[in-house]
Amino acid sequence: METLLVEAEEKLEEKGFLDLDINPELDLFEEIERLKREKNAVVIAHYYQEPDIQDIADYIGDSLGLSQQAAKTDADIIVFAGVHFMAETAKILSPQKKVLLPDLKAGCSLADACPPDLFARFKARYPDHVVISYINCSAEIKALSDYVCTSSNAQKIIEAVPPDQKIIFAPDKNLGSYLIRKTGRDMVLWEGACIVHEIFSSEKILKLKNRHPNAKVIAHPECETPVLQLADYIASTTGLLKYAINDPAQEFIVATETGIIHQMQKAAPDKVFIPAPPDNGCACNDCPYMKRNTLEKLYLCMEYELPEILVPEDVRILAKKSIDRMLEISALHGL
Ligand code: 13P
Ligand code: SF4
Repeated sequence: METLLVEAEEKLEEKGFLDLDINPELDLFEEIERLKREKNAVVIAHYYQEPDIQDIADYIGDSLGLSQQAAKTDADIIVFAGVHFMAETAKILSPQKKVLLPDLKAGCSLADACPPDLFARFKARYPDHVVISYINCSAEIKALSDYVCTSSNAQKIIEAVPPDQKIIFAPDKNLGSYLIRKTGRDMVLWEGACIVHEIFSSEKILKLKNRHPNAKVIAHPECETPVLQLADYIASTTGLLKYAINDPAQEFIVATETGIIHQMQKAAPDKVFIPAPPDNGCACNDCPYMKRNTLEKLYLCMEYELPEILVPEDVRILAKKSIDRMLEISALHGL
């Protein structure tokens, strides 16, 4: 896999793509729309992308919605405005399509926290366990798994496993602990975490709640337990968005990446959305990986059809089995 990344980067440098200046007079929105039409390309974006990218996307969603979209699109090119594991999932599901990621370095701390060789050794210590992996992991980890899940279907996936079957859950220990509390299942956890969601400060959220007593705290399950204990509602990004739109409260303290607030504000312009404060000096809880993608890089990647995401076929076939199981269970539950 590393080799494929290096090859893709070399190809980019060969083309001089990394140093290209874009004519400042170009209307990138128009250019991207033109490229979509000319190349039969679809732009799918995660809620954590910058607002301009969300606005130009054909589909915006959480990890489950994006993988469902990638599986069913009839476009020739999928431009994945998200991070590497998401684009890889799209390629696993739609190998005949070209999958592009605007910035090859848009990774994920959770995926990085679970190297396949170490995970294979860890797994070997628990031969009677099945592996459920959170979609935020590499294709190799998915290939070593029995089921994939996202934050919106994880509970249903765990409940689909017979109650006496032992489970390893990887790579997110915070989501894993939350699911142990939710399902009562005693799972073995891999010790990974999301650098964005583990940074929120429960003390600062409490102080904020004192100043906004009517605000509801909504949190993503990748947050640490003390933050989740303060939450009025816990769900995936799509779940949080729906709740913020439909709940009668007028103010929300949002404990997830700030990108989602763009959609919340668009759907409910009269409500107030306050980003939960992180436990550091700055007030920033943007995902540095998600925010590597820009409108300029999106345009360049569509114009030059690079960087392209590739997955070795043997890994793809194994990884697809565990993703397909997730999609089947999700469909059974109308998710
Ligand atoms: P969801 O989009 O599934 O809520 O996951 C959030 C996330 O951290 C994606 O990287
Ligand atoms: Fe990974 Fe966290 Fe960024 Fe999502 S928000 S891509 S889990 S680092």
